[in-house]
Amino acid sequence: MKLISLIGARPQIIKEAILNKEFQKKGIKEILVHSGQHYDFNMSDVFFKVLNIRKADYNLGVGSATHAQMTAKTMIEFEKVVLKEHPDIILVYGDTNTTLAGAIVGVKLKIPVAHVEAGIRQEPKDMPEEINRVLTDRISKYLFCPSELAVNNLKKEGLTEGVYFTGDIMYDLFLKMKPYFKEDIIENLNLEENKYIVTTIHRDFNTDSKEKLENILKELDKISKEIKVVFPIHPRTKKRIEEFNLNEYTKDILLIEPLDYLSMMGLVQKSLLVITDSGGLQKEAYFAGKRVIVVMPDTGWRELTQAGWNVLSEPNEIKNKMDYIMSNEISSNVENIYGYGKTGEKIVKFLNI
Ligand code: UD1
Repeated sequence: MKLISLIGARPQIIKEAILNKEFQKKGIKEILVHSGQHYDFNMSDVFFKVLNIRKADYNLGVGSATHAQMTAKTMIEFEKVVLKEHPDIILVYGDTNTTLAGAIVGVKLKIPVAHVEAGIRQEPKDMPEEINRVLTDRISKYLFCPSELAVNNLKKEGLTEGVYFTGDIMYDLFLKMKPYFKEDIIENLNLEENKYIVTTIHRDFNTDSKEKLENILKELDKISKEIKVVFPIHPRTKKRIEEFNLNEYTKDILLIEPLDYLSMMGLVQKSLLVITDSGGLQKEAYFAGKRVIVVMPDTGWRELTQAGWNVLSEPNEIKNKMDYIMSNEISSNVENIYGYGKTGEKIVKFLNI
């Protein structure tokens, strides 16, 4: 039995980190392929380092490009690896261009595809990640769902075969790595526990429109007059701030380079709350018991907004939403929405290998 895992962007490295250990335990051969979608040290290598993941067997060197170029290049290069290695199963993770490219290559070569984090749905339907999710789910044989809601989403689309509720693999990792979270990061950044907010913004719909990015930064600037705002900044966002000449709003914000997993979790763990448009961070904050203002028109993690734990926000109402969250305790039960941290084991079991 031979598996290929295809990863490429930061959150996929995080998702694969648990499974490679599970495969090792069972003596299953996993070939690790990195598309190269993320390539900066602090967007990729640092995660391998702190999560103790062995070097990828192949790096496809795809890099940044348009959606079509990135997806097509990944397909062309990945197909070569698949034809050489003849895997029995291909695993793809999440919702990036790498995910979709891997799934298409697998299904065309008649190799079963397993999608880790299947069934997530989010408006608008034309956002790149949503297109990647819907198409990947449609052609995958194994659909590993992080929540009951994800299972139901697939059911509504007529997908019931090969669908498994496994829980969220990111929760496995969170529990496993918790003792190692670098909480001393707050001293290094001169912060005090519960007296700062963590923010990340990187989605195209927030960063590629000058008006939206300006509104977000204005709101963060307003908040930073009351409480420290720490912003590990994605390269896409950094470029846009410069391009749109919006530096005037970031003077009081603590802008730092993107953080490795253990430092980011250490930072979140000691924060007051989180403001983000990252899918992964919405859940990680919840695992850490922190509430989130989600700067998106909708979220794939609707369980958390339905429970009132997280709150959606337009770019120009972040401060109001923050005041609302701070004055509203949460009463509904939000425990174990994403399982019990046994997702890796379940995935191996359901793959029946
Ligand atoms: C991608 C995923 C998104 C995921 C995110 C995690 C898609 C469509 N989107 O978005 O689902 O939440 O990864 O970060 O696949 N860049 C660098 N260095 C890098 C990587 C990117 O400078 O190592 C810059 C480039 O200018 C690039 C831009 O960031 O064009 C965007 O990168 P890209 O991989 O296209 O999308 P993300 O916004 O990272």
